[in-house]
Amino acid sequence: MSDTPLIRLDDVSKVYHLESGDFIALDHVSLEIKENEFIAIMGPSGSGKSTMMNQLGILDVPTSGKMYIDGRDVSAMTALERTHMRRDIIGYIFQKFYLIPLLTAYENVEYPLILKYKKRDTSGKAADVLKSVGFDSDMSAHRPNQLSGGQQQRVAVARALVNEPKILLCDEPTGNLDRKTGLQIMDLLVGLHSEGKTVILVTHDQKIAEYAHRTIELEDGRIVKS
Ligand SMILES: Nc1ncnc2c1ncn2[C@@H]1O[C@H](COP(=O)(O)OP(=O)(O)O)[C@@H](O)[C@H]1O
Ligand SMILES: [Mg+2]
Repeated sequence: MSDTPLIRLDDVSKVYHLESGDFIALDHVSLEIKENEFIAIMGPSGSGKSTMMNQLGILDVPTSGKMYIDGRDVSAMTALERTHMRRDIIGYIFQKFYLIPLLTAYENVEYPLILKYKKRDTSGKAADVLKSVGFDSDMSAHRPNQLSGGQQQRVAVARALVNEPKILLCDEPTGNLDRKTGLQIMDLLVGLHSEGKTVILVTHDQKIAEYAHRTIELEDGRIVKS
């Protein structure tokens, strides 16, 4: 682990230009996240949590300010460089799973490998990560609609892991799950954190936030506690 922060936001703002005028979704946010932190992002609805995750995940670019990830100035990258960085160091887990319905669990997890290497996976990596979330080969042949919510989220976690990202961004990962199943997903995230991943989690749920080692609170696009 080095002293250089894994992620650094330097005076980042995100402004949406609407017909009714400019809307400031992130308002001069500065923040450092170190490698292997476990962070919860909390705040009322509309406070900018998803906007913040979209910047951290390089799914969007700030209107102003600078962002560095893994020592590189993301604001100065080309779109292709950003795509590669996203693919190689970030795994995403969403409330709604976003699995591809027509693909089996195995094929969903294999998909990022196909995008990266332009061929079917022969390394066994897709099967390995599925195994690590409790899926055997029979289960891996099921399509999402044949799986429970908790099982679908496990597949989504496996898919997020298959390219061996340093950072896991989780936007309300337990939001669609019952309490017991949600806690099982949290146990998976705790295990991944202890293996060295940096975990950043948006949640409304205080009990879920307690898994994190630091909580960042947003209000009206500003950090009010970190
Ligand atoms: N693409 C967009 N265009 C315009 N306004 C947006 C867009 N995305 C989010 N917003 C606005 O920015 C604010 C923050 O949104 P968001 O980051 O989704 O909040 P949260 O995730 O905390 O609920 C909200 O008021 C929302 O309406
Ligand atoms: Mg949101």
